[in-house]
Amino acid sequence: MADTRPVLLVLGTGFASFSLVKAIDTERFQLVVVAPRNHFLFSPLLPSTTVGTIQFQSIIEPIRTARKGLRYHQAFCVRLDTENKVAHCEGKFKRTPFEVKYDYVFIGVGAVSNTFGIPGVEQYCHFLKEIQDARNIRHEVIQCFERASKPNRPIEDFDWLLRFVIVGGGPTGVEFAAELHDFIEQDLSKWFPDLIPYVRITLLEAGESILTAFDATLGDYTRRHFSRKKIQVRTKSLVREVTHDAVVLSNGEEIGYGLVVWSTGNGPTELVDNLDLPKDRTKRLITDEYCCVKTTDNIFSVGDCAVMEHNPLAPTAQVAQQGGTYVAKQLNDLVAKKERKPFNYKHKGMLAYVGGNKALADMGSRKSKGFHTWILWRSAYLTKLISFQNKLMVMFDWLRAFIFGRDISQY
Ligand code: NAI
Repeated sequence: MADTRPVLLVLGTGFASFSLVKAIDTERFQLVVVAPRNHFLFSPLLPSTTVGTIQFQSIIEPIRTARKGLRYHQAFCVRLDTENKVAHCEGKFKRTPFEVKYDYVFIGVGAVSNTFGIPGVEQYCHFLKEIQDARNIRHEVIQCFERASKPNRPIEDFDWLLRFVIVGGGPTGVEFAAELHDFIEQDLSKWFPDLIPYVRITLLEAGESILTAFDATLGDYTRRHFSRKKIQVRTKSLVREVTHDAVVLSNGEEIGYGLVVWSTGNGPTELVDNLDLPKDRTKRLITDEYCCVKTTDNIFSVGDCAVMEHNPLAPTAQVAQQGGTYVAKQLNDLVAKKERKPFNYKHKGMLAYVGGNKALADMGSRKSKGFHTWILWRSAYLTKLISFQNKLMVMFDWLRAFIFGRDISQY
């Protein structure tokens, strides 16, 4: 007998899509997921994997096992024919084209790292969005130390080889700087003691302060904390170019580097950029209060690629997660012909790790920082990890790093 259930096509496997997949009623919908990445990634802990505090596989979950009956295609959706309700897709590897017919589509494709078209960024910098990025960064950090420890290496080379530059003073840049400093101070210092005096970590921020999404007192605290740790924070430092051997600031100053991590915020994915649907000036899809893309009645979007017209929310994991679950419930109700309720986001506060077993928490009226907040940071993320297996693996990773230190082998 023909399957009469409407087809719900989900694009992406990030927080928004994964939460929707978990909450949708598969008795009512045929669920098809299209995404080049075949797993969900718990991105808030991604900076910890760049230095091996947490193992890569501890924060990912396969999409195929997320729900029974789900169909998954490892591919890019390249175009939506909204009139005929057809998604044009291309396989991830050989780019073989195929089509998926849908009744409803959920766009949860997130965002890419924004380069602002600055020359050299794509070519010479590392981003921090995916597991592969974290793997590359870890590889490169260790490589810088191995190269610097070669016999007869002139000391002048340490000026660039042991200088780690991070561009962007948002939570991604700050958390990476913190993890890198922990790794150098707690682990690499044991095995490369002669090199440690030459190591420099520099955080470049175009604006006047770092962590602007957090309360100003927490940004100031982080700056003081970083300065005690000898992490150099340079505000009002706009990067205008990256060459093969230097980061160039707008005043012409050149900073040599061994590694540059680029974390200056989000830009649109190719799909969203090309979609002929209403977008704001940062190229996010504009939705109504039901997370339905304007001018449509069967296209929903949530997370970093979407913005609600009268209630713009920050592009964070918790907005995407709550939004995905909301759209799933709403679609379940729609098919059951129940009344719809607008998306009601509940902000649970923001957390960030700043290194040396210290963290920040901005919970609206309550703000905290330091060691106790670090315990809160760890407990909160442990609770938020989706599967029990991942929770257990992350707990073991923390314990392993505490007892044995982080691994310094390059692979
Ligand atoms: P962001 O947008 O928060 O920060 C990027 C920073 O880069 C800005 O301060 C900007 O002034 C600076 N910048 C831009 N161009 C520059 C240039 N050419 N030279 C120097 N600096 C430049 O980006 P991030 O950290 O990637 O975060 C993206 C979103 O995800 C944000 O909404 C953030 O709040 C959220 N997020 C939250 C986390 C948490 O709550 N723990 C963790 C990670 C991300």
